Amino acid sequence: MSLRIRNFEEYTQVYKKSVDQPEEFWAEIAENFKWQKKWDKVLDWDFRKADTKWFSNAKLNITENCIDRHLEKLGDQPAIIWEPNDPEEHYRRITYKELHAKVSQVGTMLKNNGVKKGDRVCIYMPMVPELAFAVLACARIGAIHSVVFGGFSAQSIADRIQDAQCEVVITADGGFRGTKDVPLKNVIDDALVQCPSVGRVIVLTRSRTPVSMIKGRDCWWEDEIKKVETMGNPECVAEPMDAEDELFILYTSGSTGKPKGVVHTCGGYMVCTGYTFANVFQYEPGEVFFCTADIGWITGHSYLMYGALLQGATTLMFEGVPTWPDAGRFWEIVDKYKVNILYTAPTAIRSLMGFGDEPLKGKDLSSLTKLGSVGEPINEEAWNWFNEKIGKGKCPIVDTWWQTETGGIMISPLAGITPTKPGHATLPLPGIQPCLVDENGLEIEGNGVSGNLCIKFPWPGIIRTTYGDHERCRTTYFSTYDNKYFTGDGCSRDEDGYYRITGRVDDVINVSGHRIGTAEVENAINMHADVIESAVVGYPHDIKGQGIYAYVILGSSLHDHDLTRRDILQTVTRIIGAIAKPDKIQFVSGLPKTRSGKIMRRILRKVAEGETENLGDTTTLLDPAVVDEIKAGAL
Ligand code: PRX
Repeated sequence: MSLRIRNFEEYTQVYKKSVDQPEEFWAEIAENFKWQKKWDKVLDWDFRKADTKWFSNAKLNITENCIDRHLEKLGDQPAIIWEPNDPEEHYRRITYKELHAKVSQVGTMLKNNGVKKGDRVCIYMPMVPELAFAVLACARIGAIHSVVFGGFSAQSIADRIQDAQCEVVITADGGFRGTKDVPLKNVIDDALVQCPSVGRVIVLTRSRTPVSMIKGRDCWWEDEIKKVETMGNPECVAEPMDAEDELFILYTSGSTGKPKGVVHTCGGYMVCTGYTFANVFQYEPGEVFFCTADIGWITGHSYLMYGALLQGATTLMFEGVPTWPDAGRFWEIVDKYKVNILYTAPTAIRSLMGFGDEPLKGKDLSSLTKLGSVGEPINEEAWNWFNEKIGKGKCPIVDTWWQTETGGIMISPLAGITPTKPGHATLPLPGIQPCLVDENGLEIEGNGVSGNLCIKFPWPGIIRTTYGDHERCRTTYFSTYDNKYFTGDGCSRDEDGYYRITGRVDDVINVSGHRIGTAEVENAINMHADVIESAVVGYPHDIKGQGIYAYVILGSSLHDHDLTRRDILQTVTRIIGAIAKPDKIQFVSGLPKTRSGKIMRRILRKVAEGETENLGDTTTLLDPAVVDEIKAGAL
């Protein structure tokens, strides 16, 4: 079976086959990739144990599929186009041949520094091509990459390094984002005070801010590359990996305080991202694909890098931010590189929409043929603006629903094939079997219904484990509903069978498309010396989708409240990172608790949403009076 679906009728047929004969279906899709050895068995699974294995005993290397496989036909085509933060700095174009040479070189550099198959490498870098080289070089030699987004604090990095017991860190002196210089190496130095497992730090020069370099531990990327050149740039052989060997760990927030290391494996992840990239974006050879996500998030992993490269695409990597030097930056990039496919987040669309038409003036967007949205529900206004102002009414929009844990896109239109409706992720991709369940775990059949979104059959990109704690994976995703993967999302299915994701039903807030666990933010707030207790909820935010609202009980603080508020924000920035800073902090004398001590978040959510009338039953509260105080002080 060829990889690409070409029309809606074909989608219907392929979807049916994928449900009737899932193993045959995925085996045929997998034939489109390069395997060093084929599988003995397509699928082994037991959701009750959170066990899934795809393509058992097959051997492959994902970088052979992303790079080597394309060299003959696409060797001189750009694999990566890099647009720097500062538009005055020169862009870079890296062909597939060059990418091959770079990844090989960096792979050898890692080996020279003692990195072996199975070792964990933490990558904390700016959005420069070397970040992609580093990630791919890990995959090339069989090391497990754990990329940490450049906005996380030293404490968050330390937690992630310790959890994965990383041996090596790859970073840069600093990075640029808009007008900011981000002191990456300094942050790493702070983190490493707590991380004895790390024996080597490789530092790329980017901002050339002064950094400390510790003898025996720290070395410069450029010096190490020179050593590889002196060796004559030996070819770094693609390590034969078992399909179920771990490819990477990516940390994500959940409903408990500690982020989970989501683990993906080589074979299934490759098949999943390659297949979904080709079909959702209907990628045509030569098209330029611009995914605006950072490689520190799953979207950057799966589509900016792996999915796009697996299909021999030209992928555009942007170091900066959408609003610097001005709010026309994305449009300028589209014009400059004749971008064909733009894949971005609703939060960016809403923010840019707020600048009106001015930033669009003089920008030629006629190269665009397809648009995509990811990370959070897209409201109709943003959808319409994206459609009319950016797509000029001629570009299909794919509203792609998926998660860090799913590896690839699950529910989405196929561009230009599936009829779209604003705000709807529409239909499942072939191989994906979603279902809605009620609070008793019973599947809700038929259309015009809503419930909690589950997936009832494995797909190749499914999470394999949470690093170092398989039981946590089982309880989080596979124990809420028997024999189903639970997504944590609420969802409706309309009369046409179209799915519309309504948002998280657990204690996770989606801020600007990034998942933040309320418990994690509460833990950080509670670290502040004057705080006795706190409760955090999400509330609707015009730009970010959801904002963070914190209710905080202070001890006998003598400090000014405004100062304390700022100190709390600083504490959260230290503990997690600026992305987790509450938008609103309301000081309260108590929290609405039941007699058993459980916080009634429903009430807090309603007040945060501006609702003060219909708070529901408050009679079970230990102290109903506290609700009046909270309502009176609502921000
Ligand atoms: O709530 C859903 C929301 O983002 C969550 C997954 O977040 P993360 O693992 O960080 O991955 C984001 C990028 C894939 C989901 O549980 N979400 C993601 N895409 C959509 C969405 N909500 C509505 N519509 C979407 N298209």
